[in-house]
Amino acid sequence: MRQQLKPHPEIIVAPSLLAADFGFFRRECERVDRSGTPWLHLDIMDGHFVPNLSFGSDVVNALRPHTNLFFDVHLMCSKPDILLQSFATSGADSITIHVELGRRVEDLIWQIRSLKKKVGLAINPPTHIEDVEPYLDKVDLLLIMTVNPGFGGQSFIEETLPKIQQVSRWKSERQLPLRIQVDGGINERTGALCAREGADTFVSGSHLFRQRNMKLAVRRLRIACEEAACYGQSLQASEGTFQDTLL
Ligand code: DX5
Ligand code: ZN
Repeated sequence: MRQQLKPHPEIIVAPSLLAADFGFFRRECERVDRSGTPWLHLDIMDGHFVPNLSFGSDVVNALRPHTNLFFDVHLMCSKPDILLQSFATSGADSITIHVELGRRVEDLIWQIRSLKKKVGLAINPPTHIEDVEPYLDKVDLLLIMTVNPGFGGQSFIEETLPKIQQVSRWKSERQLPLRIQVDGGINERTGALCAREGADTFVSGSHLFRQRNMKLAVRRLRIACEEAACYGQSLQASEGTFQDTLL
C-alpha cells in the first residue's frame, strides 16, 4: 500500500548572530527581525569547551527588549550549570547543551526544563549518534553540528548527513515531536542536502549575514530546504512502496 505523504514540519531558518557585525548587535538583530524569520541563533562559547569566546547573557539581555525573535541559545560551554539561570532570565527561549558533557546531560536537561525553557541537545561531528538516543524523548530539539564548533565560516562536513538520516528515522519510528537542527556551513546547497535527510531547522551564519538583502537570502534558503524536504519525503514514500511490493 502506498504510504501517505505527511506534511513536513515547518522549516525554520535561524540566522546565527556569531556572523553579525559585533559593533552593531542591536542593528543586526533588527535586520534579522525584518527578514521575517522567527528565530535568532545565539552561540555562547566559553574558551574551554571550544577554543573561542563569543558573548554572554548580558548581551542576550540587552537585545531582548528590541525584538520578539525566538532566542535559540546554543551553549558551547564546559559548565552550563552555572550559566542556565542567567540565560533563562535574560530572555532565552530555548537552551541547547552538548551531549559530549556525558553523565551531566540528564541533570542539565531537567534543569533547563524546570526553568520552563525549550530543551536542545547538540552533538559534534566526531561523536557517535547513538550517544543521543537515550535523550530523544526528553528534548525538544536535536542539534547536529555540521562543522566542528568554535568558529563561523567553516565548510560543511558531508559525513554528518547519515546522522541526520538516523535521527530522522528514530523520530518517525517513535513519533517524536522533535526538531532536527543543523548548524555550520549551511547555505542553499548544504541546507537542501540536510533537509532531504530530515532536518527542519537551519542555522546559518556567514552565508546570511554577508548578503545585502537578508530577507531575500532567508527566503531562498527556506524555499531550497522546503523543496528538498518534500523531495526527501517522496523518496521515502516510494521506498516504502517498493518494499510493499516485495512483501
Ligand atoms: C559554530 C557555531 C555556528 C556558526 C555557524 O561553532 O555553532 O552557529 O555560527 O556559522 P556558519 O554558518 O558561518 O558556519
Ligand atoms: Zn550554534
